[in-house]
Amino acid sequence: MNVYDAIMERRTIRKFTQEKIETDKLIKLVDCARMAAYGANLQPLKFMIIQSKEILDELFDFIKWAGYLENGAPMEEERPTAYIAVLGDCTLKASGNYEVEAGAAVTTMMLAAQEEGLATCWLGAINREKIKQTLKLEENLSVVYLLALGYPAQKSVADKMTDSVKYYLDKNNVLHVPKRSLDEVLVKCL
Ligand SMILES: Cc1cc2nc3c(=O)[nH]c(=O)nc-3n(C[C@H](O)[C@H](O)[C@H](O)COP(=O)(O)O)c2cc1C
Repeated sequence: MNVYDAIMERRTIRKFTQEKIETDKLIKLVDCARMAAYGANLQPLKFMIIQSKEILDELFDFIKWAGYLENGAPMEEERPTAYIAVLGDCTLKASGNYEVEAGAAVTTMMLAAQEEGLATCWLGAINREKIKQTLKLEENLSVVYLLALGYPAQKSVADKMTDSVKYYLDKNNVLHVPKRSLDEVLVKCL
């Protein structure tokens, strides 16, 4: 898969098969995140791979799924089979603001996951303190985002946006994600 296809075909997925992800694939994603661009090359992020059923279940309670959908959360048998926790390390960057770095890391991992046939959901509506406790993080580490992963059990397509940014499910449970057109976002070619 080339990079353009990965970018165009990737969509957020929130329902997963229960097939276990090979741990090597998840380690490869973290290896990709390590190689992303970071301001001043600080590389202030650490990563945790979670596949233990017990911890997956605990984390689930601290996540809000699909704010625009009434029943957007995965059912028990559709939950992610892994999470990668993206963590900020204040000994490497003291400001405590890691969102730009984490954005680069998550995007890199999502595209690499797409190539591996994995589906992802970037999670920001999370209870960071509870997750920090669950993961028993050392004091210098804080939770920035979770990336949910699994093999896809849902179809999602990008549509041309008309009047709303809200994604929705059609009668076949296909997720539709409105995207602004190129004409709308490209101001000018100078
Ligand atoms: C910073 C950020 C935080 C997000 N947080 C959540 C979240 O907490 N729960 C969720 O279900 N989706 C979350 N998403 C996924 C977005 O809803 C999704 O990316 C958006 O609807 C566009 O769909 P697409 O990824 O298929 O293009 C988040 C995405 C980003 C970039």
